[in-house]
Amino acid sequence: MRALVLLYLLHAVFGQVTKYSWYGPVQEVRAPDPALSSAACLADQTSCGCCLMKKNINYMEMYFNQSIVEMKNQLMTAQTALNDMRASRSAFSVALNNQVFLTCIGPVNSDTVIIYKHVFLNLGNGYNVQTGVFTAPRSGVYSLAVTIYGNKANLASCASLQVNGIAVARLNDQIGQDPEDSNSAVAAVKLNAGDKVTMNLLKNCLICDDFNHFNTFTGFLLYATN
Ligand SMILES: *[C@@H]1O[C@H](CO)[C@@H](O)[C@H](O)[C@H]1NC(C)=O
Repeated sequence: MRALVLLYLLHAVFGQVTKYSWYGPVQEVRAPDPALSSAACLADQTSCGCCLMKKNINYMEMYFNQSIVEMKNQLMTAQTALNDMRASRSAFSVALNNQVFLTCIGPVNSDTVIIYKHVFLNLGNGYNVQTGVFTAPRSGVYSLAVTIYGNKANLASCASLQVNGIAVARLNDQIGQDPEDSNSAVAAVKLNAGDKVTMNLLKNCLICDDFNHFNTFTGFLLYATN
């Protein structure tokens, strides 16, 4: 009896169930584990590999699709910013004249806008060569630089750099020991689109220039603010 029990246990371990009838022991094959039979991978190795690959490919495709959409968006943002920067380029640089002989304007009775006739550069056409006015094409921080020069004894050189008629910097060289007077100023100013920048010759003052370009008026957009 002890031996039979042992045998039964051994059979159980090896996956077989032994039943006993009048005709002796009957062996049945134990049913396969349901957890294993439902795993398609074990049932059909080939289709399982295919399925996994398809899943991975689909995942990769989704990842690529997402990445492409993101990259396209970023590229569009960068292109818009670049186009905006290109469209807002503004720089001008002008001199009073380009004459062979020194030619003066002034002295004047009252503040007069100086009309610089010789254009080095007028990128964005902000400077009007007929009126001498620079109109800011868009809001931003602008760099402005001016130099004046005159060489008549008993006459001073003085001018005022103005934004919308309001002085930003005054340039002054009063009558002294020598007839030559000159001065310069540099300023960075915040301008709104449409603001007008001028150089104004002040009362009783004079400036003179020729091809040496002693009098220059320069401005450019450092960066746009909107
Ligand atoms: C990826 O994009 C292509 C083209 O737009 C599309 O046909 C495909 O279904 C997309 N794939 C996934 C996984 O979204």
